[in-house]
Amino acid sequence: MAKASSKKVQSLILLAAVLLLVNNAAAAPAGGFLGSWELISQNAGISAMHTQLLPKTDQIAVFDASVWHISRLQLPQEKRPCFWHHNKLTNQTAEDCWCHSIFYDYNKNAVKALKVQSDTWCSSGGLSADGRLVMLSDGSFLVYGGRDAFSYEYVPVEKESNKAAIAFPFLFETQDFLERPGNPKGRFRLENNLYPFVYLLPDGNVYVFANNRSVVHDPKANKIIREFPQLPGGARSYPATGTSVLLPLYLPRDTYKPVDAEVLICGGSVREGLYLGEEEKRFVNALDDCARMVVTSPNPEWKIEKMPAPRTMADGVLLPNGEVLIINGADLGSGGWHCADKPSLKPMLYRPNAPEGQRFAELAPTDIPRMYHSVANLLPDGKVFVGGSNDNDGYFEFAKFPTELRLEKFTPPYLAPEYAALRPAILEDQSDKAATYGKWVYLRVKSSEPLTINYVQVSIVAPPFVTHGISMNQRMLFLSVIELKNNVAPGVDEVVVAAPPTSALAPPGYYLLSVVNQGIPSHSIWFHLK
Ligand SMILES: *[C@@H]1O[C@H](CO)[C@@H](O)[C@H](O)[C@H]1NC(C)=O
Ligand SMILES: *[C@@H]1O[C@H](CO)[C@@H](O)[C@H](O)[C@H]1NC(C)=O
Repeated sequence: MAKASSKKVQSLILLAAVLLLVNNAAAAPAGGFLGSWELISQNAGISAMHTQLLPKTDQIAVFDASVWHISRLQLPQEKRPCFWHHNKLTNQTAEDCWCHSIFYDYNKNAVKALKVQSDTWCSSGGLSADGRLVMLSDGSFLVYGGRDAFSYEYVPVEKESNKAAIAFPFLFETQDFLERPGNPKGRFRLENNLYPFVYLLPDGNVYVFANNRSVVHDPKANKIIREFPQLPGGARSYPATGTSVLLPLYLPRDTYKPVDAEVLICGGSVREGLYLGEEEKRFVNALDDCARMVVTSPNPEWKIEKMPAPRTMADGVLLPNGEVLIINGADLGSGGWHCADKPSLKPMLYRPNAPEGQRFAELAPTDIPRMYHSVANLLPDGKVFVGGSNDNDGYFEFAKFPTELRLEKFTPPYLAPEYAALRPAILEDQSDKAATYGKWVYLRVKSSEPLTINYVQVSIVAPPFVTHGISMNQRMLFLSVIELKNNVAPGVDEVVVAAPPTSALAPPGYYLLSVVNQGIPSHSIWFHLK
């Protein structure tokens, strides 16, 4: 069995999932507004393959692969000297003065070129507890999987030595192959278990989903504690590329009560999707279901619902009111170069708490395909940043699905003008912006009508590292509301909530905190959980 060496991890070429370690929403009121789109950049210079919203700035870090040694943005003079790269075929060393990563200011719509030393292609990242962006080598992270890496490992804090990768046979067992008897090329490697979906559970163990199987893993003892029923219908992990979120965790007032954790997985492709696309240029319907399971339940079972349309390579974005936005992707095919067709232009809203049959709503379409290598990130104003799409092995403007350099913002239905009167506004200067575990948090809120305790919620969401249809470290909690005081000042209410009691519920770090009134979220503030 192959093991990932720590060197391999640091070279950042693994297809891996990262997890940051330690250590009842009302649906949006029904209305006619199906959201709207704005083009915020005609040319960001690079195609957004990985993105991470950065705390306390107005910036998103955007990365592309550097393997092609090309983009549409030159490194500015002050970032030179350029990169040097060695071509093994020609045994020649050449200069690469192209920029492969930027900071994008989503308020000013300004691009700032960055210089990244190593290739970030098909890698992963996350924010460390103090809010710095790591590309894997700084902060306390668990990394599961990767191509030929049937293992997991702790990624140590800077300057500490890395312990060896620990074998994790589950990731060996969940690989798919297509047997091709008589074919000189032998069996076709489908994989379908890369970029596993990984969630930290309220008890500190880790849920890992790959292909169509999932387990709870105790990473300290390296023991699989339980295995769940298989999810029928096809394959969900890369390249089949379904999308997944851990649904919002609801923290009870009584901190000794156990917290339920429920996983949602939407779309994916048929097992042989990659083979059909790559070898036969056939693009069949992606999977058209969402499945959810309470993974903390003693009798867990998948509950399967039909989506309005099939989807592969979607991004699942947790919105501050607890709804899930399923955005980007394609109706046909799977992940992989040139393996998909019929871009899914309409985002889909999934309301987890609505009655079954009323959970999905198709929203206003974009006209920009966002397929392989596209991204979506929630912004503090409640809008969603959308970028990327590169179906090509390089930068190609004239392909059927060109390398996409444009950036957009999507405005979800809760920002409709008719809900403006319901929208609370957090008075940031008069509110707690940091807290330690279990402490009370005081928030002052302005609203046109006094809030009522039954309709007010406070959510926190960890901004994820987004790539390949997965949003690593994305995590949302509804905090327990302790008290609501109306009119502490004219037109101002005070909401008192309890910070999460444990780091297994919410790892330390920066969260977007929002006060939600009747399903309508306020603008978020950055909240530092320490
Ligand atoms: C590659 O080029 C270097 C000098 O530029 C030379 O020393 C080396 O032998 C070459 N390697 C191969 C495999 O040709
Ligand atoms: C899960 O996938 C494997 C192939 O990797 C397949 O043999 C098995 O039947 C699938 N399970 C279900 C329930 O579809």
